[in-house]
Amino acid sequence: MSKTYNIAVLPGDGTGPEVVREAIKVLDAAATKYAFKLNYETYDYGGDRFLRTDEVLPENAADDLRKFDAILLGAIGHPDVKPGILEKGILLKLRFDLDQYINLRPVKLYPSVDTPLKDKGPADIDYVVVRENSGGIYTGTGGFSRKGTTDEVAVQSMVYTHEQVARCLRYAFEYTRRRAKDNTLALCGKTNVLTYVYDLWERVFHDIGESEFNEIRRDYYHVDATCMWMVKNPEWFDVIVTGNMFGDIITDLGAITQGGMGIAAGGNINPEGVSMFEPIGGSAPKYTDQNVINPLACICAGQMMLETLGEMDAAAAVESAVTSTTPKLKSMQAGGMGYSTTEVGDLVAETVG
Ligand code: IPM
Ligand code: MN
Repeated sequence: MSKTYNIAVLPGDGTGPEVVREAIKVLDAAATKYAFKLNYETYDYGGDRFLRTDEVLPENAADDLRKFDAILLGAIGHPDVKPGILEKGILLKLRFDLDQYINLRPVKLYPSVDTPLKDKGPADIDYVVVRENSGGIYTGTGGFSRKGTTDEVAVQSMVYTHEQVARCLRYAFEYTRRRAKDNTLALCGKTNVLTYVYDLWERVFHDIGESEFNEIRRDYYHVDATCMWMVKNPEWFDVIVTGNMFGDIITDLGAITQGGMGIAAGGNINPEGVSMFEPIGGSAPKYTDQNVINPLACICAGQMMLETLGEMDAAAAVESAVTSTTPKLKSMQAGGMGYSTTEVGDLVAETVG
């Protein structure tokens, strides 16, 4: 009897539905080849639904989604909705409610993809950022006083518990061990200024590393220096672990070094629960329904989903199909691929299947 996985699909806004459609095409090709089944259930969460119903997310959304084996998300963000409402009300709310405390973001330069980094190639740009995804300044409290006056005060606090830090670091060490590349985990912090929060991170990093992961080499970089070395010497990195805000920022830098938002994928992981996979770019509204958006980021998100489901052969086949597809594309940019969205999906799916 073949194995069946139930997948919740959230195509979302803008070009989200188009890239999700291609990812599903590739996932189905992999499922057929490796003899498992994927059942999809689609949810219409996003800007259009919000404008129609005035509800960002139904009350039971997280509970509904918890029943699935994984979630595939297209993009959230709508030009007619004020920035922040959908991002916070859907994307961040699901990450927090489903306790997806890891945001896993590979920075991998595929063959023949243009990188803005001079003299660097696929052998140099191949590392993974483990971004803490459940806390930090994203969930710390804040507020205004005397709003709208010249005496206004705004506060937004960065809050981490020992448990949040420890579970993220433990995941990062385990991931580094499993990856078995350079056995090096780098903590990205700011211990010279954020002397409370990153002091905690650094202490727990060395405690856990020394007692449980002695064979993993530990490096430390301040976040500003991390940005510098990601540009100058990306080959130094194997796995980088960092807090939520720094992780958000450095993974956009990482994404542009791997060819941009057309190819960058990520996973919001709850190692004990349901995880959600997404291309890390936005909804790109101006390209909606033109069949020109690059679906590779969403296809790579699907690849990460297969890995998390434990379908390693299928995941490897998708990865290798992407590797043989990138050299055929003129660029990773929307409208500049030399192929339509549908055709890129076809190229990958045919190679898999
Ligand atoms: C990301 C995005 C989100 C974040 C936004 C849209 C809330 O930038 O996934 O990196 O800041 O986490
Ligand atoms: Mn971001």
